[in-house]
Amino acid sequence: MSSGKSASYDYLIKLLLIGDSGVGKSCLLLRFSDDSFTPSFITTIGIDFKIRTIELDGKRIKLQIWDTAGQERFRTITTAYYRGAMGILLVYDVTDERSFNNIHNWIRNVEQHANEGVNRVLIGNKCDMEEKKVISREQGQALADENGIAFLETSAKSNINVDEAFFALARDIKKRLIDSDEARAQNRPAASNVDISGAGGMNNTASEYLKKNGCC
Ligand code: GTP
Ligand code: MG
Repeated sequence: MSSGKSASYDYLIKLLLIGDSGVGKSCLLLRFSDDSFTPSFITTIGIDFKIRTIELDGKRIKLQIWDTAGQERFRTITTAYYRGAMGILLVYDVTDERSFNNIHNWIRNVEQHANEGVNRVLIGNKCDMEEKKVISREQGQALADENGIAFLETSAKSNINVDEAFFALARDIKKRLIDSDEARAQNRPAASNVDISGAGGMNNTASEYLKKNGCC
């Protein structure tokens, strides 16, 4: 990262995608980061991440988005990434009832392993598949309301609500962590531009900190 827009940013926000295998987590991320889609299913092995820098209220926010494998056999490694996340997208597939029912388990995992107060959004993906849809928007909204979290139906394939989902989550996190931090930062300007996760948990927190504050 020596040049280009993504090299400079004001804040780093770490997001995490979780949900059953096949619900479309990687496709949502690919749509958001590269604006592309592939119909073939290449299951994620362990963990992966992508970056996209967005602008919110005149600030450049670098989103570092971790994409977890939904398969059970990777659960130990993927769970280790919950701790560093500031926001979590819980994804189900609107054509797959089991993935919807499992959201309860994913929410429990978040409660057990993520930071308290982590921002969450529930995503019902594949909403382009009208004829195969088995979970209604109302069911999704009800589940989200029960748990006090935001909700959106998306399609990675048709590019519906994908940007909206990531932006909404980033905006909530900015409100919770950055805007409230800004007043306090007046007295410690050197610390105002750093990774604000506090708890760390992802390996490159330190290097991101150095990159931002150490050289450029
Ligand atoms: P794991 O990595 O195993 O956890 O799965 P995943 O949640 O990352 O699923 P992935 O993104 O790989 O997508 C699984 C399959 O669903 C692929 O064949 C995708 O093409 C398809 N898919 C993903 N999103 C959509 C969507 O919005 N609409 C439709 N119709 N298909 C989708
Ligand atoms: Mg995947």
